[in-house]
Amino acid sequence: MSILNFNYNKYSWEESERKKVLALFENYIYGVRPPESLERFVYQILDEEIFPNFIKRHLQMTYQDLNMNFYLFLPRKNKPCPAFVFIMHPAQEKHYNFPKKLESEIIPLSMIIKEGFALAVLITNDIAKDEIGGEKSNLLAIMDKKREPNSWKVISAWALGASKVLDYLETLPEIDSKKVATIGHSRGGKTALWAGATDSRFALAISSCSGNTGAALSRGNTGETVKDINERFPHWFCDNYKMFNERENSLPVDQHLLIALQAPRLCYVSSATEDEWADPDGELLACKLASKAYELYKEQGLLMSEPLKADYSYSEGHIGYHRHTGKHLITHQDWEFYLSFFKKKVSQV
Ligand code: GCU
Repeated sequence: MSILNFNYNKYSWEESERKKVLALFENYIYGVRPPESLERFVYQILDEEIFPNFIKRHLQMTYQDLNMNFYLFLPRKNKPCPAFVFIMHPAQEKHYNFPKKLESEIIPLSMIIKEGFALAVLITNDIAKDEIGGEKSNLLAIMDKKREPNSWKVISAWALGASKVLDYLETLPEIDSKKVATIGHSRGGKTALWAGATDSRFALAISSCSGNTGAALSRGNTGETVKDINERFPHWFCDNYKMFNERENSLPVDQHLLIALQAPRLCYVSSATEDEWADPDGELLACKLASKAYELYKEQGLLMSEPLKADYSYSEGHIGYHRHTGKHLITHQDWEFYLSFFKKKVSQV
């Protein structure tokens, strides 16, 4: 049977195959987390500011002697409200001057608040550094003294960070913690999908231009290859993944199964027309193939009965998809589509 088929029945998927697929992703791609990753963090509010429409909270989560920052923006109306956990990677933090500048193209805060959503922004750099050797930094250094070929690295540590933010959100009466989405762009999008796959408390995982080892299939990828990603970013995925450099067809899973791991919860994938490196067609195909997993739950995955139109959101099923005209970016229009999908579907969550 080709890996690209999804030929499970509901019973075997839930009882065993889903767990096996998750274990394959862990062992060969994103890495296995140590038992310490299940330990609770300690949370502290460092600062709170009240704005006319929202409250801004600067928070710190602590594990042993490591402090990790995140920010929370709570609308003053609409409680309990749904929320996003945005995975802010270091290059974005710098480029968009966050948190000094709150409103930006990647985070249109006023629009999110106006729509009645809370937003948490995870500062991933505090969790693990995005540099060669980053697997030995911060949380990874503390939790994982003994590194194995299948040990977790930076992307999995960031995804764990998103789950730890969710632990905190669950304690807040202002948040409807059954309605929390995880979202990221590019390497942040790869992280959001892994967070959704590993933590079924997330109601929705949103990936913007996540490309290779995100939403795009590895088999037949016309942009970045497994070898490209492993050579340039050896600190993102486990060492075992390097076995598949120039051997994508030998991978025991492919990325449509990462989307299938979200089922029957919601998933939204967006691509860009001028983003060949992230292989937009491979992302769309993965969504189509993953739709079979939703059928097991009598839900529709991606519903697209016509040829793809750019700048149009296919949002009727439990997998949403659109492709914006333009480059490898997360835009205001993307956020409008994500918000409207989440709003429409949130009532069904
Ligand atoms: C590089 C990398 C991609 C990644 C992107 C990003 O282009 O090759 O895999 O998604 O950086 O995170 O911006």
